[in-house]
Amino acid sequence: METKVLVVGASGQIGTELVSALRKKYGKENVVAGDIKNPKSDSSLLNGHFELLDVLDKEGLLRVVEKYGITDVYLLAALLSATAEKNPSFGWELNMTGLFNVLDLAKENKVKKVFWPSSIAVFGATTPRNDTPQRTIMEPTTVYGISKLAGERWCEYYHKNYGVDVRSVRYPGIISYGALPGGGTTDYAVDIFYKAKAHEKFVCFLDKDMELPMMFMEDAIDATLKLMDANSSDITIRSSYNIAALSFTPHQLFESIRQIVKYFEIEYKPDYRQAIASTWPASINDEVARKDWGWRPKFDLEKMTRVMLENINPDLAG
Ligand code: SER
Repeated sequence: METKVLVVGASGQIGTELVSALRKKYGKENVVAGDIKNPKSDSSLLNGHFELLDVLDKEGLLRVVEKYGITDVYLLAALLSATAEKNPSFGWELNMTGLFNVLDLAKENKVKKVFWPSSIAVFGATTPRNDTPQRTIMEPTTVYGISKLAGERWCEYYHKNYGVDVRSVRYPGIISYGALPGGGTTDYAVDIFYKAKAHEKFVCFLDKDMELPMMFMEDAIDATLKLMDANSSDITIRSSYNIAALSFTPHQLFESIRQIVKYFEIEYKPDYRQAIASTWPASINDEVARKDWGWRPKFDLEKMTRVMLENINPDLAG
């Protein structure tokens, strides 16, 4: 059967690039971009099908699935860590009901396969911080982390009890030059490049030494496509896979940028997001993903810094 894809939350940082990659892979007529708001008229999302849709509206979701004969859903609509702390009840509602609406479509055999991202936010202050294992103590303290951990358990539940083919990775902070990130604790690592490119001083909302797991977008997209292509029988984790690429502190990223932007300056003014970050791992052990479906990242800090500075468009940040 031909693969027909729907990406929900297509206008976001990951969605925008995932839609382009999926259109390259499956052909643009086979990939529908869906989002709650219309894209700007020059958005790449409009190079193919686009549907306005709200993941909380199950009927609306079903209408789009039936209209295009969708087989695979990538569910990216969510409130991220910083934003969800500002609006806990809506964060919980969007992140959980959105997931149930999509899992139920798969349970009812309306779609065949689901991708849903989890996050390093599922871990908490009691988790081993370095080389965090696939299976470990998980006591998240943010609304976002709690919703992602609950979501992971539900994904596994739907797989075990209803045979739903749902696949997931725990994304670290994602760094990209396409669409801007929205509302995450790791967003500083994107914001910093806009300031560097504009030759302005960067004020960092995390501490100088706050090491976190990160990944360049191209690797994140690769991981996503690779996991979705894997044989179902090779997938031993139906909650969510640890995946890792880089770990760095704001200071290390600053130094890496300063290799290229010589007079770049930084100041540290940690805010509430520092408290969130301090409960997350510094580095992640991803040996299960490597073994099960051949995950390998390609970008190190130096390569990522170079590609970011070459491609970032300062106009995007406004
Ligand atoms: N980048 C996300 C956040 O900071 C982590 O999943 O919320």
